[in-house]
Amino acid sequence: MSAVVTVGAWEAHYAAGRGFRPVMSNEQHTFERHVGPAAAAGLTALDIGCGTGEFAHYLTTCGYDVLGVDCAATAISRATNRYSDTANLSFRCWDAENEQWDDLPQFSVITTRLSYAFIKDKTEFLKRVRTHLAPGGHFHVMTPRREKLPPERRNTGINETEVTDLCAGWAHVKRHELDAQHTSYTLTHQQES
Ligand SMILES: C[S@@+](CC[C@H](N)C(=O)[O-])C[C@H]1O[C@@H](n2cnc3c(N)ncnc32)[C@H](O)[C@@H]1O
Repeated sequence: MSAVVTVGAWEAHYAAGRGFRPVMSNEQHTFERHVGPAAAAGLTALDIGCGTGEFAHYLTTCGYDVLGVDCAATAISRATNRYSDTANLSFRCWDAENEQWDDLPQFSVITTRLSYAFIKDKTEFLKRVRTHLAPGGHFHVMTPRREKLPPERRNTGINETEVTDLCAGWAHVKRHELDAQHTSYTLTHQQES
């Protein structure tokens, strides 16, 4: 079952000047090993639930043109101000479950860091992610595992069934334990036949 956190609660968190854990070097190494830097100019990445934009910014250092999206306007405003000087990085206030995906293009890479647990309808979300991944593209998810978290934080992680569903139906699945609680999954879309 997904954690139910309202947009208002996210807004209050960001309005209080708070954020989430910084992007760690082992996350970066795992991304670079499993996804890799952009192989050509102009390849795009979408970071869903980007918060204040740190991971989206990291993706630009790997050579991607990046769009970070989050349903919390305060997070997007902080991200936009913080990274106003970064080329090839833009942010949009957008709710991945309650707004249209139709005007989004396909991306080479879609990421979601510490946010997947909060998606209520994961089946529909995964369908949309697949539709918006270019052939051979990667969906990179970094999330806590529920059973490894203390009881008061269990709602921020995903359970074994959700892991199985997340990993089903991809051409390749790479999984890496980042630490005692966090795992990254790199899921590669089919190439066009
Ligand atoms: C735990 S925070 C992680 C933020 C950021 N990725 C980071 O690592 O610091 C989860 C984020 O997901 C966003 N979020 C939750 N549900 C969302 C949705 N349906 N669409 C877009 N963003 C969502 C929240 O607003 C929040 O910023």
